[in-house]
Amino acid sequence: MTPEIGIFGGSGFYSLLADAETVDVETDWGAPSAPVTVADVDGVGVAFLPRHGQHHELPPSRVNYRANVDAMRRLGVHTLVAPFAAGSLRPEIRPGDFVVVDQLVDRTWGRADTFYDRFDDGPRHVSLADPYTLRVRRALLDAGRTAGATMHDGGTVVVINGPRFSTRAESAWHRQAGWHVVNMTQYPEAALAREAGLDFGGIALVTDYDTGLDGEPDVPPVSQDEVFEVFRTNIDRVRTLLFAAVAGLATR
Ligand code: ADE
Repeated sequence: MTPEIGIFGGSGFYSLLADAETVDVETDWGAPSAPVTVADVDGVGVAFLPRHGQHHELPPSRVNYRANVDAMRRLGVHTLVAPFAAGSLRPEIRPGDFVVVDQLVDRTWGRADTFYDRFDDGPRHVSLADPYTLRVRRALLDAGRTAGATMHDGGTVVVINGPRFSTRAESAWHRQAGWHVVNMTQYPEAALAREAGLDFGGIALVTDYDTGLDGEPDVPPVSQDEVFEVFRTNIDRVRTLLFAAVAGLATR
């Protein structure tokens, strides 16, 4: 079946669909991070692709974002949903909460972030003023509330290069700038989705408080183990939320 909705998996999230067909998709940009799986979810075709590879072999800067987004486009999806693990930059955004972000700040470097490496057919400058599609954000928020999750409507994700986490000074700067969560993969996914003409939604599962919380010496800086452990304990809620969102995402 032709999938309408594409979903990327992130840290700790390598499979989604039962009774899925595995499809190898060729792209002009090389191979995607893993074979894509496609399945029918309540009558809607859904494609799933773990962005770090099946065994998390790809660090954020080695993910072939162009191949991943292009694979989804070639399969026919019109809407791409990108769940991601994130550190919180605010006390009121707690581990286990979800943030349906509405803005991003790109602090990555050296990533292949455009399908328009050449302007052979004329200039191609897309607007990324609003990286996230309102329709997709609404469907994710509705699904999360139905699933009983704590949802934050809007927020800015600052995307760092990784794979290391932030210094205390960097994290303080990100907080002072007014940003909400920090992650390593939302850029260039959002930009490429826009260039590919796909509706795009990003949903953060908060796994940690980045370098800690001001005035709370008991909250240590994030560790890799913490991210994976919090994601593991919440993975069923992530799946429930995404399945609940599918019907609302189907009509463009
Ligand atoms: N992913 C999960 N937690 C993170 C953090 N604190 N910084 C960057 N990426 C993350």
